[in-house]
Amino acid sequence: MTNSTPPAALVTGGSRGIGRAIAERLARRGMVVAVHYARDEIAAKETVTAIRAGGGEAFAVRADFTETGAVDTLFDALEDGLREHTGSTGLDVLVNNAGVGCSGDAGHMTEADLDRVITVNVKTPVFVVQRALPLLRAGGRIVNISSAASRVAHPQIIGYAISKGALDAFCRSLAKQLGPLGITVNNVAPGLVDTDFHGDRLRGHPEAAAEAAALTAFGRLGEAADVADIVAFLTSNEGRWITGERLEATGGAYL
Ligand SMILES: NC(=O)c1ccc[n+]([C@@H]2O[C@H](COP(=O)([O-])OP(=O)(O)OC[C@H]3O[C@@H](n4cnc5c(N)ncnc54)[C@H](OP(=O)(O)O)[C@@H]3O)[C@@H](O)[C@H]2O)c1
Repeated sequence: MTNSTPPAALVTGGSRGIGRAIAERLARRGMVVAVHYARDEIAAKETVTAIRAGGGEAFAVRADFTETGAVDTLFDALEDGLREHTGSTGLDVLVNNAGVGCSGDAGHMTEADLDRVITVNVKTPVFVVQRALPLLRAGGRIVNISSAASRVAHPQIIGYAISKGALDAFCRSLAKQLGPLGITVNNVAPGLVDTDFHGDRLRGHPEAAAEAAALTAFGRLGEAADVADIVAFLTSNEGRWITGERLEATGGAYL
């Protein structure tokens, strides 16, 4: 990040939840942040506005990962935005955060549900990385947002667990490939974080929220900022010697 152009980051799913917290955190560090979203343009614009209000710079890029050509759509907009806001298409940080859930155990999950979760949570991030590689500068950082569900059995969301497990395997091999380029690759695996991801399962259901909080060592639910701070560390110079790792970020859940 010693270039004369400002450092730049792409945060997929940066419009809401954990991704928004990561986008805001990286912007506070002086990075120009591409805030990706799929459908919620208002949320993406709110994130960009919040970043600018804090003295940072950001722009929104849309691509629905379930649509054909999503990666091209994303990178066309990303490269235009980077040129406009940094004067270059160079990228320093890529955070593969966008993700969807998938409910159903092995006896009930549908093929369509599994296709969707694999497409959004695994296949698209893989090709996002492929397209990002020519843009990533030496010293670059890739972080994928995994889940506790890839470590602890979650039979009722087995398709989701499979998708995050695949992302963990991707991380390890990619880290080995990109090490010689000085690029680190790591996965951060949150436990339950209070975001829209859970719909009204936790919000408005204090008992369910308390049960989930009790699973952690600290007795509270995770917050998006808890995860964003870990991503900030991994993507900083201080995180340069960590690569190929899956960092559990669950507040000690399921110890
Ligand atoms: N919340 C948790 O408890 C938790 C725990 C472990 C891991 N995670 C992981 O953390 C990541 C972020 O989760 P979150 O809780 O912040 O979720 P969230 O609040 O539901 O936000 C999801 C983000 O992903 C984007 N997205 C959704 N569907 C998409 C699609 N088809 N194509 C492209 N982007 C899409 C959304 O864009 P729009 O705004 O346009 O809809 C949004 O920015 C996910 O990978 C999730 O698996 C979450």
